[in-house]
Amino acid sequence: MREIALITGASSGFGYEFVKLFAQDQYDMILVARNIDRLIEIKNEFKNVNITVIQKDLTKPNAVKELFSEIKNKNLSVDILVNNAGFGLFGQFDKLSAEAQSNMITLNISVLTELSHHAIQEMKLKNRGKIINIASLGSFQPAPMMAVYCATKAYVLSFSEALAKELKGSGITVTTLCPGASKTNFGKVASVENTRMFKNPMSASSVVKIGYRAMHKGSRVVIPGILNKAMAYTSKFLPRKLVVHMIGSFTKEI
Ligand SMILES: NC(=O)c1ccc[n+]([C@@H]2O[C@H](COP(=O)([O-])OP(=O)(O)OC[C@H]3O[C@@H](n4cnc5c(N)ncnc54)[C@H](OP(=O)(O)O)[C@@H]3O)[C@@H](O)[C@H]2O)c1
Repeated sequence: MREIALITGASSGFGYEFVKLFAQDQYDMILVARNIDRLIEIKNEFKNVNITVIQKDLTKPNAVKELFSEIKNKNLSVDILVNNAGFGLFGQFDKLSAEAQSNMITLNISVLTELSHHAIQEMKLKNRGKIINIASLGSFQPAPMMAVYCATKAYVLSFSEALAKELKGSGITVTTLCPGASKTNFGKVASVENTRMFKNPMSASSVVKIGYRAMHKGSRVVIPGILNKAMAYTSKFLPRKLVVHMIGSFTKEI
């Protein structure tokens, strides 16, 4: 039987790039997002594997519980979890909508955590599994004008690194992918396209190829792109105040 990858946020950007790679390697998939028409289009594009599409707004109460019971009712189980659905918001904290920021925290943090919890229960029964959590370069740096977004991604990195260590020896690996600015719908959704940070975005396919390889190797943390790596490592050694100042100059509109 073929292994099954559950991909959240599969309707565009990184999620869609993951679908292409999994299809190439003959994995069956469960694709989740709100845009069902797009998910059906993607299912029809990859006829060589079995794709199940599930329309779900993951920010709604009980969405993750419902998702896993739908998966169980279809007699499917998850071998690989791609915790990818997420979004950002650009703007001054007090001027951005409190509700939108709260939804962002729900999706980027709570949903990712709950999905990992459900998936690990299934993976432990088989003594194997892979999880890839999509964090961000922002996981390493507090970013003025994206204060809440980067804080959510700092959580993803911290949570995933700890989980990887807890699960060592269990047959389950946890990889954290930390992309910098990349060409997906993210920039438009976050209204961050007109900042210095987004001047030279990486292609979504090159980011995901790096993440996909790292996930199969069971690497803990992967940062695509030399400049992004340099930014992440520099942030570890510079005084925090200087890092915040430096990132503030990248998140200014141009
Ligand atoms: N692109 C970048 O520069 C960048 C950099 C670092 C990290 N990231 C992270 O990469 C991940 C993927 O984003 P992307 O860049 O590929 O952006 P994207 O093209 O906007 O994709 C986001 C995906 O998340 C799904 N999604 C959003 N809200 C959802 C909800 N409430 N319920 C279910 N699905 C939802 C969207 O599908 P529907 O709209 O159909 O629901 C879409 O498939 C995110 O976690 C993001 O934070 C992106």
